Amino acid sequence: MAHYRQVGEVPPKRHTQFRNAEGQLYYEELMGEEGFSSDSSLLYHRGVPSAIVGSEVWDLPDQTRTPNHPLKPRHLKLHTLFPHAGADAVTERRLVLGNNDVRIGYVVTGTEPSPYYRNAIGDECVYVEAGSGRVETVFGVLSYRQGDYVVIPRSTTHRWVPGEPSRLYPIEANSHIAPPKRYLSRYGQLLEHAPYCERDLHGPTETLLVEGEDVEVLVKHRTSAGIVGTRMTYATHPFDVVGWDGCLYPYTFNIDDYMPITGKIHQPPPVHQVFDGWNFVICNFLPRKVDYHPLAVPVPYYHSNVDSDEVMFYVGGDYEARKGSGINIGSISLHPGGHAHGPQPAAIEASLGAEYFDESAVMVDTFAPLDLGEAGLAAEDPAYAWTWAGRGPQGPAEGGDNPAVFSNS
Ligand SMILES: [Fe+2]
Repeated sequence: MAHYRQVGEVPPKRHTQFRNAEGQLYYEELMGEEGFSSDSSLLYHRGVPSAIVGSEVWDLPDQTRTPNHPLKPRHLKLHTLFPHAGADAVTERRLVLGNNDVRIGYVVTGTEPSPYYRNAIGDECVYVEAGSGRVETVFGVLSYRQGDYVVIPRSTTHRWVPGEPSRLYPIEANSHIAPPKRYLSRYGQLLEHAPYCERDLHGPTETLLVEGEDVEVLVKHRTSAGIVGTRMTYATHPFDVVGWDGCLYPYTFNIDDYMPITGKIHQPPPVHQVFDGWNFVICNFLPRKVDYHPLAVPVPYYHSNVDSDEVMFYVGGDYEARKGSGINIGSISLHPGGHAHGPQPAAIEASLGAEYFDESAVMVDTFAPLDLGEAGLAAEDPAYAWTWAGRGPQGPAEGGDNPAVFSNS
């Protein structure tokens, strides 16, 4: 996060004595990225932030990854994964797709708060497909609602407190997630050509002070054996920060506050970019006016993204035109590197003269191949790969009369 924020009380000079009314010192913690060489914040705790009284194994949900081999485009129906709401936002999220740079999960929560949790592997960007509530963090409270990206920096202790059952799409990086550099000035301000600005980013506004002893926090982290979990028990409650300031903190950004960039002819996905992380980008395709050249073809040309796998998560809009394709709200399409994708010829003709697209999707493009998680395998529509041809190795593709084509990518 590029811009400075202060919440609660902080002393006038950093690294100087800061005491409560009774004269007791607060404990200052610097939380910073890239070894004191990037964004950071200073937090003032009532208790000692490193005081633990227990550490034991936390068994993570199934993290198995299966390579996309033999190579196929895939359609995954995420809404089949949780027939009922009520899963835990942290401990019961299921792995849909992943590689060594990023993991994409899915969970449909109830209204019980999650355990306290932090991801020490990288930043999380959780897209809220549906639902609302709040995320309590060591920096204070974020409220969330449908269409929010909830961006939680690496190692931020937090918990999810859904106000209603919520459909969450966690994008877990092994790195940091931030606006693309080309949107930023040399000092980090969002520039005029960026499709959003600082006013659209919502950080905590008040500290969250909670009393407590022997508080468990689940930590997801890395070892030479891969991704593992540890349950740490803190002597005092980690939400004991009386004030903090700096440029590192969690925030939300709502998809409706993204101002799509349009053109006279078809605009490529990078104009729809929201964030990026190491070896992946996050884009969104939103309702908007489309190409105004008199001979424009509004749907995309076929494309081979030879360096990337493309994941589209269809989150809103009118999919009547795609009846029979299988793609609908809650679907994911995975179009891997090594194989071209795009519309069917009928969809191209049908799009001519269109002035507006009413479809919403969140896209993750990765620069390393994605494997299927256990949930990806469980949610797959096996007919999808053959829908462009209308037939596959077993004959006509089921539901393949209208191949899955999204207008934007
Ligand atoms: Fe594409």
